[in-house]
Amino acid sequence: MIPVGIDVMTFSTAHFVLDVEDLATARGVDFQKYRTGLGLEAMSVPSPQEDIITMGVEAGQRAMARVADPASIRFVLFATESSIDQSKSAGIYIHHFLGLPSSCRVIELKQACYGATAALQLAVAIIRQNPQERALIIASDVARYGLRTKGEPTQGCGAVALIVSAHPRLLQLEETSGTYTRHIMDFWRPNGQDEACVDGRYSTISYLDALEKSWKDFQSRGGVAFEEIACTCYHTPFPRMAEKASTRHAKLVGREKSLDPALLSAALRYNRQVGNCYTAALYVSLLSLLEQASHDFSDQRLGFFSYGSGCVAEFFTGIVPPGYQEVLFPEAHAHTLERRLPLTVPRYEEFYAQSLHPTFVPTPHYPMGPLCFLGIRDQQRHYSLMSSIAQKAS
Ligand code: COA
Repeated sequence: MIPVGIDVMTFSTAHFVLDVEDLATARGVDFQKYRTGLGLEAMSVPSPQEDIITMGVEAGQRAMARVADPASIRFVLFATESSIDQSKSAGIYIHHFLGLPSSCRVIELKQACYGATAALQLAVAIIRQNPQERALIIASDVARYGLRTKGEPTQGCGAVALIVSAHPRLLQLEETSGTYTRHIMDFWRPNGQDEACVDGRYSTISYLDALEKSWKDFQSRGGVAFEEIACTCYHTPFPRMAEKASTRHAKLVGREKSLDPALLSAALRYNRQVGNCYTAALYVSLLSLLEQASHDFSDQRLGFFSYGSGCVAEFFTGIVPPGYQEVLFPEAHAHTLERRLPLTVPRYEEFYAQSLHPTFVPTPHYPMGPLCFLGIRDQQRHYSLMSSIAQKAS
């Protein structure tokens, strides 16, 4: 069978960052609860002129720069749970701002943090049928809980872009996967509500339960043994959750020790800095592993546990082809994290309030990537490409 999977992958995030130590101080919480208890260092915060589209376009542009034939992109799949419209796919903005061909179809997918994995499986199935085509997946989210809630330290934002193709350079997906679905109310966001409703403790228990169930399903379908997987990336709403998943996974297979701690730590390095980015979180962890571990994964198998509250989960695997290092972006990703400007807690609260009710500001006011969100006018979202602004100014 022709190998199909991820050919190129990159992430972007917002241009502002909040240190969780500052948040802990402002909330009167012991800093170690956020640092050790949740495993966090910082969280990205979008300015009022950044959103899931601006982050998605930045990641998409970088990924597309590695695609020799843009006309081969026949499908854009946009995964998010911080959707900006009930009807129109956010992917159409991506399609427009990336200048993709009109023959390319576009959809948006939703199932909490699982959406990007659904997009990946769908794209892989389509490319297996049409190996000369490619698909672009954008998974982009702003994780928002209420101010002063228990969920507040587990916010963040980010977007990943994945190019799915035949003969991929980064990850060849294997066919067997284990899945699990159950109707539960651990996390949801009713229509018209900006902040998620969450039963946090229940969501962590449900996550671990779904790991067990999807792993068992994976095994019952002939999935490989634990020992044949070099490293597993777990969905990372906050890094401690993935560490707990790793421990639980090892217990499930009767092992005392979980993953090599150095690999697990590498897989969580970016997530500790960005915070939660829902659909993108698992794939940010994959990038972190491949770029930050001092380990050659060539010809090795990686495992993936994807969880979306509500809930749907999937365990699947893929093989990393030799030479994968050549398609990574470690410098660009380091820059993406380092360029962020620190926020004070009062400024973060201002941004939070302004993002909920965006006013129309016709010019860019903040540092940003290639696209600026200007605001909402006539019930339409308006954006401006920074290159076109630069052209006008020159
Ligand atoms: N020093 C070190 N660790 C500390 C500490 C301190 N001073 N105070 C608390 N901790 C530890 C706790 O022991 C706990 O660790 P454990 O889970 O290993 O026992 C951890 O910090 C978190 O403390 P807890 O009291 O459970 O946190 P919380 O009730 O305030 O909420 C979440 C934690 C994750 C439930 C909350 O942030 C949330 O709802 N987040 C959004 C939902 C989410 O991300 N769900 C994930 C699954 S999808």
